Amino acid sequence: HHYVAIMAGGIGSRFWPKSRTSYPKQFLDILNTGKTLIQATYERYARFIPAENIYVVTSQDYVSIVEEQLPQLQKENIVAEPSRKNTAPCVAYISFKLIEKDPEACLIVAPSDHLVLDPDAFEQVSLRALEFARDSKAFITLGIKPTYPNTGYGYIQHDVESVADNIHKVKTFTEKPNLELAKTFMASGDFLWNAGIFIWRVENILQAFESFQPEMYELFAQEKELFNTPREKEAIDRIYPQCTNISIDYAIMEKADNVYVIPSSFGWSDLGTWNSAYDNLEKDYLGNAVAGDKVMVIDATKCMIAAESSKLVVLQGLDDFIVVDTPDVLLICKKEKEQEIKEYVAEVKRNI
Ligand code: GDD
Ligand code: MG
Repeated sequence: HHYVAIMAGGIGSRFWPKSRTSYPKQFLDILNTGKTLIQATYERYARFIPAENIYVVTSQDYVSIVEEQLPQLQKENIVAEPSRKNTAPCVAYISFKLIEKDPEACLIVAPSDHLVLDPDAFEQVSLRALEFARDSKAFITLGIKPTYPNTGYGYIQHDVESVADNIHKVKTFTEKPNLELAKTFMASGDFLWNAGIFIWRVENILQAFESFQPEMYELFAQEKELFNTPREKEAIDRIYPQCTNISIDYAIMEKADNVYVIPSSFGWSDLGTWNSAYDNLEKDYLGNAVAGDKVMVIDATKCMIAAESSKLVVLQGLDDFIVVDTPDVLLICKKEKEQEIKEYVAEVKRNI
């Protein structure tokens, strides 16, 4: 009864210009490992989830990329969304599909674009979570020890005592706090980052949708007879335009009172930005990380350089910069301003 739904519908805008709406981050090999992030994700789960129970939920636009990158994935396990509505509708959709097939289903909801350096530890903690979820109402999160007040994550505060081996009841779940609040959380010392991976029984998460997102729940429930039939697409095309655009974190996790956390360490990074890529790449003796082989660096320090175009990039004297060269866009940005990259993309789209 173990399933995983790999969510691969995001656009990864903070990794622009390498990540594009037409070919986003999860389909790229950001760290030059020889595998794209979604390929590594698939393999991480294929170790302990039967192949027929691995699903990828993605935007209609990316189905052919998924087919190409994951030829081993059964075609009927690629679930296509007609529009981008963030992760709550994505979870509702796959849950309605699964419950009909397997009322006992225990589901891991997983991002497709993270880095995990220790797959053994990851497998262990995942199996532990599945086991705990099976016999309870728990929504289990995996908590990572935070290192700085990142405002792009969910923050989890939990009881000191554990209810079972290393599993703690969550007191508060705060999605993407502002910087001031994130700093307070860090200073207090008892918060963890939400790794964005959730484990629960499908029947329980559907109940939570019914309580906390009743309108969304109804949209899906009204059409549920059509799921897993040839008329599923028709139903989904009716449902999606009416769905609220909201993430599972805001829609359910902040509201539910049966949330648990397993403090974990499996070499996690969400590779959310160029700085996190920098942290995970090898550096030269002046602290420059270079992805791409046509790059010459002179007297520069602590730069993140990614050059994938065919031209040679020569860089002199820059300190603490992100330089990303692609065939049609060159980005040069101070490292400390990387959170603004999202806004540049919006600006570029307005102007070009
Ligand atoms: N199918 C589908 N449809 N997938 C989506 C959609 C969508 O509309 N939107 C996003 N995704 C996918 C992304 O591709 C990614 O793999 C995953 O869902 C998570 O979405 P993000 O947009 O990357 O979320 P986030 O990084 O802002 O926040 C989440 O992850 C953090 C850790 O990285 C939250 O769960 C935070 O609480 C958490 O700390
Ligand atoms: Mg993310």
